[in-house]
Amino acid sequence: MDHFLYQDGELFAEDVPLSCIARQVGSPVYVYSAATLRRHFGLFRQALDWTEHLVCFAVKSNSNLAVLKLMGDLGAGMDVVSGGEYRRAKAAGVPGERIVFSGVGKTVAEMRLAIEGGIRQFNIESEPEMRALSALAASMGAEVPVAIRVNPDVDAKTHEKIATGKAENKFGIPISRAVEVYAEAARLPGLKVVGIDVHIGSQLTDLAPFRAAYAKVAELTGVLRAKGHAITRLDLGGGLGIPYRRDNNAPPLPIEYGAVIRETVGHLGCEIEIEPGRNIVGNAGVLVSEVIYVKRGEDRDFLIVDAAMNDLLRPAMYGAHHDIVPLVEAAPGAAVQPYDVVGPVCESGDTFQKGAELPGMAAGDLIAFRSAGAYGAVMASEYNSRPLVPEVLVEGDHFAVIRARPTFEEMLGRDSIPAWL
Ligand code: LLP
Repeated sequence: MDHFLYQDGELFAEDVPLSCIARQVGSPVYVYSAATLRRHFGLFRQALDWTEHLVCFAVKSNSNLAVLKLMGDLGAGMDVVSGGEYRRAKAAGVPGERIVFSGVGKTVAEMRLAIEGGIRQFNIESEPEMRALSALAASMGAEVPVAIRVNPDVDAKTHEKIATGKAENKFGIPISRAVEVYAEAARLPGLKVVGIDVHIGSQLTDLAPFRAAYAKVAELTGVLRAKGHAITRLDLGGGLGIPYRRDNNAPPLPIEYGAVIRETVGHLGCEIEIEPGRNIVGNAGVLVSEVIYVKRGEDRDFLIVDAAMNDLLRPAMYGAHHDIVPLVEAAPGAAVQPYDVVGPVCESGDTFQKGAELPGMAAGDLIAFRSAGAYGAVMASEYNSRPLVPEVLVEGDHFAVIRARPTFEEMLGRDSIPAWL
């Protein structure tokens, strides 16, 4: 459930009409609902309330400082994958002891930043990375907590670009070599092995792959403990999918996901970490956009809107579906017609949806792309020299701009022309 609902025929974010935000901030604009963020975080916390746990918000899904501050104030940890994300988590007031650092290509500079600033654990993804971290930590006189990410070779049954748990993917160390890698980790200076990490992919709509992966982690926990490793923490990654369509095929709920965790690893007495991103923030955000033109094609009508693939990349990149709804609710029984909803960018891939069923639309009408809170603003670019879309956070009956639209002066000011040109 989210807090984007029609009231008196108008789409609201909590108690604020989205049209009011579009009027004041301009279009396109990303709008997030604080109540929805809190609610979704609470669902994960509740799903794991049977054990000691930390819900680490996947910063990559939405890294706006206000969103991170809101999550951090609820007690969330953070899962970061770059020095930049680490800095964001810290800037939002999250203590290092609640930050886990994932990612296949952490540089020494990034690792140093996190050791100096405080870190809950590094999720190590390869032996070279493990040796580099050991050398660095030892040189700093530090002993850093580590989990090793294992690749369980499980098919997450999601889009191939966001599946990460098969042997062919670049992530983690093959689970078949885990014993030898843990043995080396235990020997290396500067590292303190605390647990096992796994993440098999994103937008999973079935619990079976989680169950398979976590069962393998449970088995590995037993094997490693028998070899003398103190496995006290399991980081089970993120990935629980969200409903992108309002139909009856909703993915499992956090509570059901929590039950799978309990069933597979609950008996081990480990502290549990999870790293959800999309499930917390995806349906807590919409992208509001204005119709620029309605264009008659040979055999179809195009709705040319002022948002484009650079602002919301998911449809172009993954063929992803985002429900498109008018801000003014169609009258019951009103006629709908199909539109190809497209942006102004000069590529045919700049198509949000073909044949979207909408009431008759005209230039100046406002629409919302739903489920745009995760992997929306964070994946935006200035392609075609389009300014990054501003972000707004709604709380009850008020809202604040949490990232302003850059001015063209700022955009142009980042470039410089060498004196010799
Ligand atoms: N932990 C790790 C190690 C991850 O790689 C990811 C996502 C997450 C947690 C969070 O997964 P979530 O709960 O959000 O599914 N840009 C793509 C999604 C990429 C996900 C990458 N990793 C999209 O728009 O669908």
